[in-house]
Amino acid sequence: MKYSNQDKNHHSWMVVENQFHANHLKKYEAIMTLGNGYMGIRSSHEEHYLDEMRNTFISGTFNRFSEEEVTELPNMPDLTQIKLILDDEVFSLTTGRVIDYRRELHLWNGEVYRVIKWQSPLGKTYKIEFKRFVSHNNLHLLGQQVKVTPLSEEVAINIVSGIDGQVTNSAVQHFIEGNKRFYYGKIQEMQQKTTESDIEIYAHTVHRFVLNEEIMNLKPFMTMDRRKIAGEYACSIPQGQTLTIEKLSMYHTSRDCDLKGDLHDWALSEIEAVGQWGYDLWFEKSAKAMKTFWDEKDILIEGKEGATFDQLAIRFAQFHLKGMTPAHDNRMNIGAKGLSGEGYKGHTFWDTEIFILPYFIYSEPQVARQLLIYRYHSLNSARQKARDNGYKGAMYPWESAWIEDGEVTPVWGAADIVTGERTKIWSGFIEQHITADVAYAVWQYYQVTGDHPFMEDFGFEILAETANFWCSRLEWNSNLNRYEINDVVGPDEYKEHVNNNAFTNYMAHWNIELVIHLYENEPAFRELLSDKMTIEADYHFWQKRLDLIYRPQPNADQIIPQDDTYLQKKNIDLGPYKNKGKVGLLFKDYNLEQVNQMQVTKQADVMILMYLLEHLFTPELKQVNFDYYEPRTLHDSSLSLSTHCVLACDLKKYNLGYSLFEKAARIDLGDNMSSSDQGLHAASIGGMWQCIVNGFGGVRNINGMLRIEPSLPEQWQRLKFEILWQGNPIIIEIEKETLDFSQKVTLSNKGKNQVIVMTKDHPIPLESNGQVVL
Ligand code: BGC
Repeated sequence: MKYSNQDKNHHSWMVVENQFHANHLKKYEAIMTLGNGYMGIRSSHEEHYLDEMRNTFISGTFNRFSEEEVTELPNMPDLTQIKLILDDEVFSLTTGRVIDYRRELHLWNGEVYRVIKWQSPLGKTYKIEFKRFVSHNNLHLLGQQVKVTPLSEEVAINIVSGIDGQVTNSAVQHFIEGNKRFYYGKIQEMQQKTTESDIEIYAHTVHRFVLNEEIMNLKPFMTMDRRKIAGEYACSIPQGQTLTIEKLSMYHTSRDCDLKGDLHDWALSEIEAVGQWGYDLWFEKSAKAMKTFWDEKDILIEGKEGATFDQLAIRFAQFHLKGMTPAHDNRMNIGAKGLSGEGYKGHTFWDTEIFILPYFIYSEPQVARQLLIYRYHSLNSARQKARDNGYKGAMYPWESAWIEDGEVTPVWGAADIVTGERTKIWSGFIEQHITADVAYAVWQYYQVTGDHPFMEDFGFEILAETANFWCSRLEWNSNLNRYEINDVVGPDEYKEHVNNNAFTNYMAHWNIELVIHLYENEPAFRELLSDKMTIEADYHFWQKRLDLIYRPQPNADQIIPQDDTYLQKKNIDLGPYKNKGKVGLLFKDYNLEQVNQMQVTKQADVMILMYLLEHLFTPELKQVNFDYYEPRTLHDSSLSLSTHCVLACDLKKYNLGYSLFEKAARIDLGDNMSSSDQGLHAASIGGMWQCIVNGFGGVRNINGMLRIEPSLPEQWQRLKFEILWQGNPIIIEIEKETLDFSQKVTLSNKGKNQVIVMTKDHPIPLESNGQVVL
């Protein structure tokens, strides 16, 4: 993969594919996905290929095909296909000869550009350019432009283009066929309805053709087929001249929060308005919105050779975070693969709260707020899950989709190499830490933003109900005189049915301790909740349990046991399975039951505990546990590397931190050509920001105080980024002096209020519009 480019103005701003590979289609489709939070479209080519995975998703349009399967985001009718027939030869890069090929994802303006010089099987040569964007100015709009120039002789061109509803999610068809229509000789329309959730969707498209700056009025030959509508447009292009084909398309659904009046009338009037203008105008509007975004959010990394890639990686991360996040609608959340693939079915996990939300909390708190309100809207289904399991309060689903769906984790997973049967997925039943993770995120959001109205309207209730769940979930051990949490899966999903997973127990304890603190110190908490809950009785319930909750303590070697039995399990040689560029290799040799008996960890577990509740652990303890657990951790989940990177930075091992950051950045951007087939790794993308800001930038919320302790890795010369602390923009710039490599840290407060910054255990006042050099 190539990242550098000749375009000096856009250094570290583009991802480039410089050779066509029919077997690498899925990789580039995923990493070049275009999205605006409402929709996400994988960058499949305009022409079809055998091994492609064409996907378009619209946030929140979940549908459950049958009782035997869980709900998922359905693959929308495809609007991106354009078939080019040139003198009776179908344009395809798998035939003829590809003389030149280049595709670029332009992070600065959100456009994908492809340029090809192609010789057809009959020896005719063409230059063909493709452009497309998903609008950041109009959530419903996507645009495409194709320029065809015959280089050897005049060509008769036929263009077949329309709306293809013959798409599935791995063969599952989520739509009932609806109406299709062709309006005013211009607009193609397809209407469909999801089979179970009854969501109506409209897809519209309109074409325009320009030859020599003259708009051509091409009359199409229309075809309508089952779940398909298309027009065939024909004309001739003289040698050396260019035909420009433009396709502007829109989706509208009955779930849209901006729905105005009748869905059909609204959708039709919108595409009519869009069709008045060409690609360039709509693209410019979108590019302008992207420019505003980057003007505010760009993070700068400068340094040695590797820094160029790092700079690109963080822009890639921010670009996709923007594209995958439904900031427009708080009934929706971020999928583990964003909107870039079928993986994890569009479901939301703790990935949002622990790995992605920090980015939004510190840089776009209004978006973080929306994502947390989604959890508030889901409170009733979380209460239902708690009741169904015999508990009180709110028990959040491990995987969630639409706010009313409750638990949507599939029950069956991969093949068991020993028995040959399907492996049962226990997470939906017993991976319960998600409930504390949501509470943790609520509190982080509040402490960093100071958004008290949010707490009054939503946050306090989430915190109280999650604490109620934990209190009812605790099990009394009369022999040991303590409350335990047994039979769970912790973050390490290679250990099932364990007792007292350290992460789960500590986080539950933290959740209950917090609400006791709020009850005792925050009058609004007591007053507002007394109308909704039996808050006084709840308070006694919390109080009685808190000090008796068992939190695994360090053993004689200072190791915090991951759970009751982990440290007694056998160690195996992880050589054949670790750092091999492929995850899950262990399962070629063992099944989950066998892995359960080994000291092998899938991803950060005790380590994420030491990161999230860092004030509870000394640096020495963190170091000893890092040294114990990291060698036993396969990093088989993409969530693992960024946590380890931040911890390595906390432990002042910046080179190690840097190598972990590099690995995290290459999960999607690296050379593994199949790692992104099912979609991007949203949590790892959020984790890349954490590595930079929380790791090397040393930014942390310590009990409501802003701590900044930056340190750059060897490869970086300069790092500059902005965070928002309680509404005050703080610019943090770290630069290495050229002579002695010492670091100059400059903090500037662009906000209205003084901010106290803790650094090396000292509070430093940072005045409004003031600057401090550390
Ligand atoms: C990880 C989970 C994660 C999920 C979705 C799993 O492989 O173990 O921690 O939430 O993927 O990304």
